[in-house]
Amino acid sequence: MGSVTVITRAGDRHQLKLRPGVSVMETIRDAGIDELLALCGGCCSCATCHVYVDPAFAGRIAPLSEDENDLLDSSDHRTEASRLSCQLALSEDLDGLTVRIAPED
Ligand code: FES
Repeated sequence: MGSVTVITRAGDRHQLKLRPGVSVMETIRDAGIDELLALCGGCCSCATCHVYVDPAFAGRIAPLSEDENDLLDSSDHRTEASRLSCQLALSEDLDGLTVRIAPED
């Protein structure tokens, strides 16, 4: 069974079960980590599910869509590693993925 590691803003690491087809945002939310507001519920319209993805996985995650790119541009904390976690569907290929929750805008 695969896992995903989530690092909170305070630096706490949580190893969560990877459920194929479930997004990173849902995985974080379902684990009771309350740092992601995820206000739009995963519709790619709020940017409150911003995370930084471990660069080692950059080539394995779904490519950035135009909408996601535009929304990330509205963040003061955007980096090369930025993604909206609701747009990252998990699969067994992503076993070991590590994401850090971005600062709140
Ligand atoms: S939950 Fe709103 S963009 Fe991800």
